[in-house]
Amino acid sequence: MPPERQTITRVPCPTAPVALAPVSVAPMMEWTDRHCRVLLRRFSPSALLYTEMVTTRALLSGDVERFLGFDVSEQPLALQLGGSDPEELARCARLGAAAGYREINLNVGCPSPRVQKGAFGACLMREPTLVAECVSAMVSAVPIPVTVKTRIGVDDEDSEAFLFAFVEAVNAAGNAALVVHARKAFLNGLSPAQNRNIPPLNYERAERVRTCFPSVPVIVNGGVTERSQFNELSARFDSVMIGRAAYHNPALLADIEHARDGSLSLADRLSLLTEHLDYVDNKLREGERLHAMTRHMLAIFNGFPGARAYRRALSELPRKDGAGTADVLAALDHLRDRAA
Ligand SMILES: Cc1cc2nc3c(=O)[nH]c(=O)nc-3n(C[C@H](O)[C@H](O)[C@H](O)COP(=O)(O)O)c2cc1C
Repeated sequence: MPPERQTITRVPCPTAPVALAPVSVAPMMEWTDRHCRVLLRRFSPSALLYTEMVTTRALLSGDVERFLGFDVSEQPLALQLGGSDPEELARCARLGAAAGYREINLNVGCPSPRVQKGAFGACLMREPTLVAECVSAMVSAVPIPVTVKTRIGVDDEDSEAFLFAFVEAVNAAGNAALVVHARKAFLNGLSPAQNRNIPPLNYERAERVRTCFPSVPVIVNGGVTERSQFNELSARFDSVMIGRAAYHNPALLADIEHARDGSLSLADRLSLLTEHLDYVDNKLREGERLHAMTRHMLAIFNGFPGARAYRRALSELPRKDGAGTADVLAALDHLRDRAA
C-alpha cells in the first residue's frame, strides 16, 4: 500500500492584500520572459506583469538568477510558480520575495501533459486540500500576497459545486486573489493551444465566484482582444488579465492604459521601440543574443504598411554575424519609408 501523504497542519496566517492593477499580462511560457516584459512595460506603465511559469524543480535545482532575474523597469511583477509540494513551494516563494517580486502566483490552470506528469497545473483542481496546503505554506513563508490562477473546471468536473469547493479551500488557506481563466481544461485529447480555444468561455461562472466569495478579488482571464471587452469585464470583475492579445498587439495595453480608443500611432510605436533599443544594446554588451529580444518585437507594427518587410528583416538577423541595434534601426526604415 502506498504510504499516506502526511497532512501538514498550519496556523492560518493572514495573507498580504494584493495591489490590484486594472490590467495584468498573463504568464506565458516561452513568451513573457524578461525581455518581453521590458518591452511590454513600455506600452503599459501600470499593468501587473507575470513571469512565465517557473517550476519548483527548476528553481530549486537551477540557477536562481536565470529564473528570477529581472530589470527594475519591469515592476510591478508577479512570479508564477508551478509545483505541488508545499515545502518546496514555500522555499521558492521565499526566493521570489527576496528577489523583489510583488506577488507569488500558483499555477492551477495549465493542462499540458508535461505539467500533468509533474502532478501540478490544472490537474490540481481535483486536489483542493493539497492546493490549500500549498497556499498556506507559501502564505506563511512570505510577506507578499500569494494568489492562485485556475480554470473553472477539468474534464467532466465542471459543475459550480466543484469550482466552489476548490475556491473555498484555497481562499481559506490565505489566497489573496483568484485569477480565473474562464474555461475548463480537458486533460486528455486537447493540446495546450486547443485548451485555450476549444472549451467555451464562461464569464458568468467566474462572476458567480466573485459574487459568492466577495472577500477575495477575482481577476478574469480569457479571450480579451479589444478594449471594449476589457471595459465590459472591468465593470464585472476586480481586474482583467490579458494573455495572447497583449503579446500579439501590445498597443492594446497602451490603449487600456490611456483609456483611449483607436490604435497607437505609427510614430508612437516607432519612438517606443527606438527607446527600447538602449536596453537591447546593454543586454548585447552583457552577452545576450539579439534574437532573444527581437523575437518579441515582430508583431508591434502589424497592420501598418511596411510591417511585413520589417518582420522579414528582423527574422533574418540571427543569420547575420555581429548583428546589433543598427540592424534593427535599419529594419524600422521599412516602416519609416512607407510613412514618409
Ligand atoms: C504561449 C502560451 C504560454 C502559456 N503559459 C502559461 C503559463 O506558464 N502559466 C499559466 O498559468 N498560463 C499559461 N498560459 C495561459 C495564459 O496565461 C492564459 O490563461 C490564456 O492564454 C488565456 O488568456 P488569453 O485568451 O487572454 O490569451 C499560456 C498561454 C500561451 C499562449
